[in-house]
Amino acid sequence: MDLFEYQARDLFEAHGVPVLAGIVAHTPEEAKAAAEKIGGVVVVKAQVKVGGRGKAGGVKVAKTPDEAFSYASDILGMDIKGHTVHKVMIAQGADITEEFYFSVLLDRSNRNYLAMCSVEGGVEIEQLAVERPDALARIAVDPGTGIDQAKAEEIVDAAGFAPELRDGVIHTILKLWDVFVKEDATLVEVNPLVKTGAGDILALDGKVTIDENAEFRHADHAALEDKNAADPLEAKAKENDLNYVKLDGEVGIIGNGAGLVMSTLDVVAYAGEAHGNVKPANFLDIGGGASAEVMAAGLDVILNDAQVKSVFVNVFGGITACDAVANGIVKALEMLGDEANKPLVVRLDGNNVEDGRRILAEANHPLVTLADTMDEGADKAAALAYGK
Ligand SMILES: Nc1ncnc2c1ncn2[C@@H]1O[C@H](COP(=O)(O)OP(=O)(O)O)[C@@H](O)[C@H]1O
Ligand SMILES: [Mg+2]
Repeated sequence: MDLFEYQARDLFEAHGVPVLAGIVAHTPEEAKAAAEKIGGVVVVKAQVKVGGRGKAGGVKVAKTPDEAFSYASDILGMDIKGHTVHKVMIAQGADITEEFYFSVLLDRSNRNYLAMCSVEGGVEIEQLAVERPDALARIAVDPGTGIDQAKAEEIVDAAGFAPELRDGVIHTILKLWDVFVKEDATLVEVNPLVKTGAGDILALDGKVTIDENAEFRHADHAALEDKNAADPLEAKAKENDLNYVKLDGEVGIIGNGAGLVMSTLDVVAYAGEAHGNVKPANFLDIGGGASAEVMAAGLDVILNDAQVKSVFVNVFGGITACDAVANGIVKALEMLGDEANKPLVVRLDGNNVEDGRRILAEANHPLVTLADTMDEGADKAAALAYGK
């Protein structure tokens, strides 16, 4: 999960990274009040999860609260690279004399962490990395030892900081490493890291990506989620602990096991070529021990997708045998009642398959069609979605 700049700023502050005051605002009135509270020159900054806001006109210096009001009016609602601005951060103005760059990230290809640092910050770092790679120091960070004093010194020296800046930058990098580890981040980036007229080092713009796999040990991270951006069906699925991804198609898919669901998507997409090019509407893996409740929750999400015209349930009975899955489907349809309103094609195979098929045949639900094979099921579901 990527965080907004103001959320990154808050995390930085909580971990002792030197930052300036920043207050998030949703309206020009709130922006003005925030500017009054901070006092002096402030910067009105669009809060969108893309870089290059400055160049796009989303970062403006305001000398008075009234100017903050008027810049916030301009910036709120603006579109920056396809992202609508719903909030701004009112940041205390910095007296910048130099801009630097620092980041630490998970380096998947090397199974390691990587720190990058440059005395030429503020600019588009991707461009710097391509045009003058020597200007960007890249230092591998062993996950076992992390960034300790010696590693921070190595990074700062590789980047070529002036001697009088060394201690301040080292201190800041050590604090940023704390953010990285203690918040279970996969990216902490500061661009620019600045030196002020008074000689202080400050993190002026932060980008943080949180590892969602570590959610279980960060109860406070749920609050960082951007509810505006989440697809409502995906949000509903998440509430029910379902592995669901919304796609742009007409055939709802339920399967057990990520591999089976992935191949079901392929087979349905292929079958769809013969039926008006209908496509799979989602990825949904209900997992190994699929109870009736999980089946009902999954069906509920899929049937609420207005684009869905038919549903293909493709389950391989393993630990949870087919009879249990079949009972789950029957109960789920009972639980959903009138909300179950689209045709379902069910293909069961594996453990206790005969019992499973018998249970579904006996239930004789008007919306349910049985299929013997995955190809046949995909074809039927695609045909139903196309209206034949
Ligand atoms: N609080 C601030 N005070 C003064 N200048 C700022 C402040 N925040 C940003 N800036 C200036 O605006 C530039 C762009 O802002 P930044 O937050 O890095 O946004 P982005 O990277 O999305 O363009 C910075 O490089 C810096 O020069
Ligand atoms: Mg920046």
